[in-house]
Amino acid sequence: MCGIFAYMNYLTPKTRKEILDLLVTGLKRLEYRGYDSAGVAVDSNDGKDIVLVKRSGKVLMLEEAINLACDEGKTKADSELYTHVGIAHTRWATHGMPSEVNSHPQRSDAEHSFVVVHNGIITNYKDVKNYLESKGHTFESETDTEIIAKLIYHLYREHPNYSFRELVEQVIQQLEGAFALAFKSKHFPDECVTTRRGSPLLVGIKTKTRLATDHIPILYGKDDNIASNHQEHRPRNNSVHDIPVLPRNDSTSEFMPVDDKEVEYFFASDASAVIEHTNRVIYLEDDDVAAVKDGLLSIHRLRKTHDDPHAREITTLKMEIQQIMKGNYEYFMQKEIFEQPESVINTMRGRVNFEQEKVILGGIKDYIPEIKRCRRLMLIACGTSYHSAVATRQLLEELTELPVMVELASDFLDRGTPIFRDDVCFFISQSGETADTLMALRYCKGRGALIVGVTNTVGSSICRESHCGIHINAGPEIGVASTKAYTSQFISLVMFGLVMSEDRISLQQRRLEIIRGLAQLENQIRKVLELDAKVYKLAEDLHKYKSLLIMGRGFNFATCLEGALKVKELTYMHSEGIMAGELKHGPLALVDELMPVLMIVLRDPVYKKCMNALLQVKARNCQPILICEEGDTETMDHSSKSLEVPRTVDCLQGILTVIPMQLLAYHIAVLRGCNVDCPRNLAKSVTVE
Ligand code: M6R
Repeated sequence: MCGIFAYMNYLTPKTRKEILDLLVTGLKRLEYRGYDSAGVAVDSNDGKDIVLVKRSGKVLMLEEAINLACDEGKTKADSELYTHVGIAHTRWATHGMPSEVNSHPQRSDAEHSFVVVHNGIITNYKDVKNYLESKGHTFESETDTEIIAKLIYHLYREHPNYSFRELVEQVIQQLEGAFALAFKSKHFPDECVTTRRGSPLLVGIKTKTRLATDHIPILYGKDDNIASNHQEHRPRNNSVHDIPVLPRNDSTSEFMPVDDKEVEYFFASDASAVIEHTNRVIYLEDDDVAAVKDGLLSIHRLRKTHDDPHAREITTLKMEIQQIMKGNYEYFMQKEIFEQPESVINTMRGRVNFEQEKVILGGIKDYIPEIKRCRRLMLIACGTSYHSAVATRQLLEELTELPVMVELASDFLDRGTPIFRDDVCFFISQSGETADTLMALRYCKGRGALIVGVTNTVGSSICRESHCGIHINAGPEIGVASTKAYTSQFISLVMFGLVMSEDRISLQQRRLEIIRGLAQLENQIRKVLELDAKVYKLAEDLHKYKSLLIMGRGFNFATCLEGALKVKELTYMHSEGIMAGELKHGPLALVDELMPVLMIVLRDPVYKKCMNALLQVKARNCQPILICEEGDTETMDHSSKSLEVPRTVDCLQGILTVIPMQLLAYHIAVLRGCNVDCPRNLAKSVTVE
């Protein structure tokens, strides 16, 4: 949660207004990560102080406040700054209500000695706060982040000979929990220090000429015992004692070689905020400290373990700027729903050879023999990503002939589920940063299981920490509600099943019908999208209701769960995905002539059972909306409202039935006046447990 954006121009003149615009635009790109308040910190007009502008609400409110400050001359918009550091933040509240004082940047003191922006949660903040209060610091906000600003200031006063980067290294030794941090200080003008543990952070580099290198060496500290020592240094259990300071780590001799002196650096929670400036980025790893001094970037770690690399790679982003723009659509979600004919093709590109009817998944191919020998497959995820596992479980059981367990990451961790070396664990996550999923991954990895990541975000934590994986290639998904990522996750898991069954003679016919089904999907999705106007009409009826029940079973049960999740998160209406087989075990009591019900009834192996459920619902005077197969007049005769989707193979049908649900939730949300891309209380990337 929360978005961090920092920008440094070194010997690259920019007006203050340009810098502020750049910071605000960066925040807008990250707004999907959190949008209850926002703030920036830049140098004051005389360069001697730091100015903070913070506002509750969306980035737009902050932008207005900044424009006002410029108009009133509080910050000189047209003065040119050769070298400058600005930090910015968009927040999703965890500690303390959305308010100006709780917004970031948080400051160390009224003089703004140090300011910091933070994404994550500091779990031991109370202990640190007690310690700092005992040293005379007073706190103004309810945030956990404020302790970071105060702690660095405290250490600075105690150890004035330490460099900015060394101070940050000292600070993170005291922190427990998850964080990505960017610091600015008036005691270290024109320097920026950032770090991360558990929350994502990358550095974008823009130079006029080509970079002289494609990697940057990591500078390690001298004390090998630091990592074990520092545990004892943390102020724990409210005990108040001095923080022993670690030995100085002044390994500053090697810096990244850039040929030209003029350089711009961007520090951001994800690539969408930097892609319009540069495609050259470094993904920081946990406990990396990235510092810029005299325009030179260096990456430090306090301690080297045996498998630590010598350098961090500078990667080239493949993303295009248009991919993160709305174009002619009103909302990102709408754009992403309508992108599905292309996104599903991108997921299959280079993997499914439709002429030879073969499937190859380059990212896992070397691991297939090991996967085939496993005891069971575990699919672990949250939210929509979890539903993609529910949607494909039956097919994976059929094609792999292995037991397949589908787990919600949070519950999996709560249970301390037994995991063995011969388990293969799939972690499905659009963002690749979801805290529960990442924690579950580490739990399974620690127990020796093979880890397969299924993500949409190259360079994400899940991607990096997996042994192998499938990149779903859906393209950036900005709307908080996941849409195209779901259909691409679905297809990725189907492709995995096809790879696993390649040499099973008894399954060849089934495999062929699925591959042929995949070939039709692009056009069939286009047909489903033509239902948009019809779905809108249904939404006009439904948007005044308080509840919507969505029923189905078999391969389409996942669509019910996913449809209900979309309705809930976007429209704030109650909605429930109901397994039709469970109807008479409770949910039928909810059904009467006033209850809106939507039922998915396809001509698949559970058709008759679905029809029974339909009749039971109708017997309670309810007139359900139906999603059924194109031309199935017999089924449609049971309702005055139905949506027809093209017929495909039973196990792929869920890809076509989910799209009307996405459209329905979208239209109901718009009609109810909800903010489609940024639903209340939610954020795109859930990096807190
Ligand atoms: O990035 P992830 O796929 O790991 O995210 C998991 C869920 O937070 C996410 O799918 C969430 O449920 C969506 N907002 C639903 O639309």
